[in-house]
Amino acid sequence: MTLKSSFLWGGATASYQCEGAWNEGGRIESEWDRYLHENNFESGDIASDFYHHYKEDIRMMAEGGQNAFRFSLAWPRIMDEKGNRNQEGIDFYHNVIHECRACGIEPFVTLYHWDLPAYLADNGGWTNRNTCDAFEKYAELCFREFGSEIKWWTTFNEPKWTIVSGYLVGNYPPAEKNAQHAVEAGYHMMLAHAMAVKKFREMNVPGSIGIVHSYAPVDGVDDSVSTQKAMRFADNFMNNWVLDVAAKGVFPEDFLEALTVKDIDLSFMNKADVQLISKQKVDFLGLNYYARALVKPYSSGETTLTVNNSGSKGKGTTVTLIKNWFEQVRDPESKYTEWDTEIYPEGLYRGLIRANERYHLPIFITENGIGMYEDVTKGEVNDQYRISFMQDHINAMMNASDEGVDVCGYFAWSSFDLYSWKNGCEKRYGLVAIDFKDPNLKRVPKKSFYWFKEIAKSNGTKIERRH
Ligand code: BG6
Repeated sequence: MTLKSSFLWGGATASYQCEGAWNEGGRIESEWDRYLHENNFESGDIASDFYHHYKEDIRMMAEGGQNAFRFSLAWPRIMDEKGNRNQEGIDFYHNVIHECRACGIEPFVTLYHWDLPAYLADNGGWTNRNTCDAFEKYAELCFREFGSEIKWWTTFNEPKWTIVSGYLVGNYPPAEKNAQHAVEAGYHMMLAHAMAVKKFREMNVPGSIGIVHSYAPVDGVDDSVSTQKAMRFADNFMNNWVLDVAAKGVFPEDFLEALTVKDIDLSFMNKADVQLISKQKVDFLGLNYYARALVKPYSSGETTLTVNNSGSKGKGTTVTLIKNWFEQVRDPESKYTEWDTEIYPEGLYRGLIRANERYHLPIFITENGIGMYEDVTKGEVNDQYRISFMQDHINAMMNASDEGVDVCGYFAWSSFDLYSWKNGCEKRYGLVAIDFKDPNLKRVPKKSFYWFKEIAKSNGTKIERRH
């Protein structure tokens, strides 16, 4: 079977990871600026400098046969500390959208890809309910400003990773290890999501709205009852608290119960807000797929959550173990990247089938890609591994589509090389190479760019099909 003719083929980016110009055009400080500057970590101050290169980058997407571009709006560029509009920032995004339209590229917009304004972080960030009200105002401004130009909206990118990393692993701002705060912040993010969806409906914004989730379909090491219980804990922790809430309006009951057993105080969940959440359902799901989670029952030890942000130097340091719930394990049969990410296309196929059975919603693959070290100084990067990775994952997606899953688009992460959060710019995902040491940040398409062009132009028929 073929994919629908309206299928979107593109690349994805995030404002902080690509724009640079962190203190230009009236942009205020974000939580990430402050955290990376204060700790002297590699930052996205310049990143890919998309702020100044957007025309070149968008034209290149069109030359690469792409018909869509996923990007995020930066809250700190659009609103100042008093909640007033920043015209320069707004104009920048009008220009980006205009360029997309001029090049035949469908803009696919994320409202929030982690760059929380620093002044809100100072007041407790997502642990403070006021941040939800501030987000609603920001979303309203975006809907009013860009509503007539955008068809595809998403509220949040990956509530799971930003909360788990920020409040449990402690490797993202606000760099805490505090389970109570993690749950409060996660809940408020889902409430802010629902408030934005409500506003979207009230304003009759044309187009559709969804959420983007970092989807880790859960597999078990065997079929035992204890493994199945561990899988349910893992699924609630990794997926359901975002997807069930966005698609069905409910927090999984057994998850709330399990949190109470862990002495989490849930009294902040007030009735009116829970009711508001229950009424706001998304039009579609955006799923970012990098890897599945293979789990076994919890055996022993304290809760440990660590992430490899050091590439080959930190290989094998990723651990996800939640006391009394589950442990994530490595599959000896699988290949892993230098950053410990399993390469497992079948997980995408199975995950799509499950998401369809559970939610019956249209689905976009909003991110999929592989992070590698690459020498970009010696001409075209011959990234055959990226081509194989994308070939296998698009094939998996098409197999799911053949079985009735309503897949509407595929976005490669990333359109071009960009800043990879705590991993820096040397963890490269792009279809286009950027030499970050070159003062002009020269862009050169990689081999995968040309391969993807043929796939997009053929609407997937050039994918080698395997079952
Ligand atoms: C997703 C995020 O988690 O994965 C992106 O939406 C991120 O912002 C991407 O860059 C790859 O992860 P990382 O940590 O390798 O940059």
